[in-house]
Amino acid sequence: MVLNLAIKERKEIKPEVNSCKTNNFVKSPLNYIGGKYKILDQIIPLFPNEINCFVDLFAGGCNVGINVDAQEIIFNDNLIYLVDLYRTLQNKELLSILKHIHTQINKFDLSKENEAGYKRFRLHYNSTQNPLDLLVLVAYSFNHQIRFNNSHEFNNPFGRNRSSYNQNTERNLISFINAVKSKNVEFQSLSFDAFNFNSLGKSDFIYCDPPYLIATGTYNDGKRGFKGWSKNEEFKLLEMLDSLNSKGIMFALSNVLEHKGKSNDILKSWLNKNKQYATNYIHKNYSNSNYQTIDRNKSSSTEVLITNYTPPQINNKNLQLVFDYKK
Ligand SMILES: C[S@@+](CC[C@H](N)C(=O)[O-])C[C@H]1O[C@@H](n2cnc3c(N)ncnc32)[C@H](O)[C@@H]1O
Repeated sequence: MVLNLAIKERKEIKPEVNSCKTNNFVKSPLNYIGGKYKILDQIIPLFPNEINCFVDLFAGGCNVGINVDAQEIIFNDNLIYLVDLYRTLQNKELLSILKHIHTQINKFDLSKENEAGYKRFRLHYNSTQNPLDLLVLVAYSFNHQIRFNNSHEFNNPFGRNRSSYNQNTERNLISFINAVKSKNVEFQSLSFDAFNFNSLGKSDFIYCDPPYLIATGTYNDGKRGFKGWSKNEEFKLLEMLDSLNSKGIMFALSNVLEHKGKSNDILKSWLNKNKQYATNYIHKNYSNSNYQTIDRNKSSSTEVLITNYTPPQINNKNLQLVFDYKK
């Protein structure tokens, strides 16, 4: 099948250069803030070898679940408009999705320079809420953020001279759609605490990549028409993980113990209470780093994957340490 993917002539942003090995992982077409694409080669080897049902409880850009080998993958995110978009990508024909995107780009004359066109298109999205238009809007928006106001209107500003729907976006989109259509995938749009774990058992696996309590993302400040992330949610999630653990269900939790001079003491004291959980350190400086050289200055962060099992394969870039935090 030959697709005519020519987009109206416009400058491309340079392809992103990843210093990590990405092993042909599928990349989210949304360039999701806080997305784990760049560290997939560190976290996926730490997951169990055989997974029946994989739950990506805070799916975001779906970067993690889409690259996991499992009988069934459930993506959940409380951002309903995002989940509507994924369901549309799953159910609509690939060619008709691409046609719609190109039609909108041409109709609204979207480019990295045309802010007026972007604003007209944003108004159009807010009045029609066609899920596919959200993908196009995010492609041209500032830092590709998904931000709504309290009336659930998309209000992210224009990404002048930086953001566009380009050939990389389209390549990622096509791979993503093909993966979603070929795997056994289900989408849910619940808050994590409303998710029903009752049917899950010991061969299933829950991956959690929540908003980080000590870092800010547009999706966790609670001012965007969606519930934010506070200590309350943090405690609830940790309690929920303990309850999964007591039922013998495996989980992995991505988080940061420290970030830009802040410390997540709730998480640290939970780890101290649960010595059976493993703390796997993730390297951000992917190309050439080891634990000893982790920069502990004010701008650095200590990123971890916490598991309630011993990972089958410790990636040589990770050091698994027994966490011992003394305040
Ligand atoms: C760090 S992002 C996940 C990124 C994702 N792992 C990836 O690689 O693309 C966190 C996600 O949690 C979602 N979220 C925030 N609060 C939530 C809640 N209470 N229940 C479910 N999802 C929530 C946000 O909408 C956001 O998409």
